[in-house]
Amino acid sequence: MPEQVRTLAFEARTCYAVGCLFPQPVFEIPPRLLNASTDPSSIDTDAGHRIYTSWSLPLYDLAVHGFSNRFLWHCRTATLQAWFDRHVTDCHLDVGVGTGLFLDRSQRLNSASQVTLLDANQNCLNTASKRIARLQPTTVLANLAQPLPSTLPRFRSASLMYVLHCLPGDTSFRSEVIRRVATTLEPGGILFGATILGEPRPKGRLGRRVMASYNRRGIFGNQNDSVDLLQKVLSGELRAVEIAIEGSVAMFAGSAG
Ligand SMILES: C[S@@+](CC[C@H](N)C(=O)[O-])C[C@H]1O[C@@H](n2cnc3c(N)ncnc32)[C@H](O)[C@@H]1O
Repeated sequence: MPEQVRTLAFEARTCYAVGCLFPQPVFEIPPRLLNASTDPSSIDTDAGHRIYTSWSLPLYDLAVHGFSNRFLWHCRTATLQAWFDRHVTDCHLDVGVGTGLFLDRSQRLNSASQVTLLDANQNCLNTASKRIARLQPTTVLANLAQPLPSTLPRFRSASLMYVLHCLPGDTSFRSEVIRRVATTLEPGGILFGATILGEPRPKGRLGRRVMASYNRRGIFGNQNDSVDLLQKVLSGELRAVEIAIEGSVAMFAGSAG
């Protein structure tokens, strides 16, 4: 069965479980993922973005920002939007764009803003750029597992909203990603974002099950992500690091040297 179909089937089953009964199996994280290597050649750096197809993306906002944030991760989308609006500038690089929801809803961006979208998935770039066409965004197809194009200009802000938890690997790979994005910033520029932590595990039973399943499938790679690890990764690459926690979500910001 294709990965997308299995994922959708799982989503449907878990959504059904909210109103009725919990799904039967508990998905365990296999040991090979718990010991994920930091060598990008030995980990699947595409699993976190290939689920976003032209038919699954239209469901994304509803599934993630409508349902999961509230019922699984206990962090309101409005809180994430406020964090985004607090840090975004009019010269912004959005990394891991999804459907472009935060950009679209931001009160701080207008047609005079310079917005660049970067993603490894062309479907996401197409969907987000169409949605915010009024901002005339530039798009860049690039995988965070590789060095970013040297032709990128310098930005005053860059966001990683709900991207880090999609990445495989451990601390050193996350540090590499933060470093790559930080190098796109002008001195004093702000790197900010939000990520779902794997530690402590979500309070709710359904959240724990969904997270374990996502980790098993490579959709998430956050089973070892804690606030201490995030603090360590960010402090290694940024100055004046700030982290705020709501539910299972860590919102973060820091400035480039
Ligand atoms: C969970 S979505 C977040 C979308 C959006 N920022 C939001 O908060 O709604 C993760 C995004 O990161 C992108 N992504 C995942 N892994 C990536 C990688 N290795 N390189 C670049 N983009 C990646 C996906 O294609 C997707 O657009």
